[in-house]
Amino acid sequence: MPDSRKPLTRVAHEILEQHLEPGDLAIDATAGNGHDTLFLARAVAPGGSVYAFDIQPQALQQTRVRLEGEGVADRVTLFHAGHEAMMELVPESAHGHIAAVVFNLGYLPGSDKQTTTLTETTLEALQHSTTLLAPGGLLSVLAYRHHPGGWEESEAVGEFLGRLPGFRLEIRESPGPVLFVAHRDE
Ligand SMILES: C[S@@+](CC[C@H](N)C(=O)[O-])C[C@H]1O[C@@H](n2cnc3c(N)ncnc32)[C@H](O)[C@@H]1O
Repeated sequence: MPDSRKPLTRVAHEILEQHLEPGDLAIDATAGNGHDTLFLARAVAPGGSVYAFDIQPQALQQTRVRLEGEGVADRVTLFHAGHEAMMELVPESAHGHIAAVVFNLGYLPGSDKQTTTLTETTLEALQHSTTLLAPGGLLSVLAYRHHPGGWEESEAVGEFLGRLPGFRLEIRESPGPVLFVAHRDE
């Protein structure tokens, strides 16, 4: 029985922790303040790599400082780019070998909330993620619903992931965000 009081950010990390192994490759599609990037960098150590995306320089700077402070910056490549460009930016040698892609949608906590993820580019990036993932890989999407556009985005994500052939979808609800974890078949 899932503990409904546990923050879904933590639930997502627990699911990913069970799955990721040293040497794995992972993508943080929304680096933000770098909490997920740091978590992924630790989970794939030693030997693994993380590719992280954000469109806001402020977010990338926060992430860089966090990773450097924890001594793990060398295993993370930060891209100042939208996640919709992941097919072009993640090295071709990694395509089909990514163990997990993580999205934490919405706005940057602590910012003016003007820049948020958008349904169209989120769906584009999710589509790319399905190509980049290894067999057995995980696609984790935490979607917030209480900001303008958030509800529509989370509905669109749920519909997209629910219709994906070759994936099993797990959904964790909360009064705030909703967590989608799509498990790619082996
Ligand atoms: C909720 S925050 C992410 C929190 C982050 N995962 C953490 O652990 O701190 C959402 C982030 O998505 C970023 N974002 C918005 N549109 C994006 C896009 N098209 N590609 C990549 N990042 C984007 C925002 O700039 C913001 O920093």
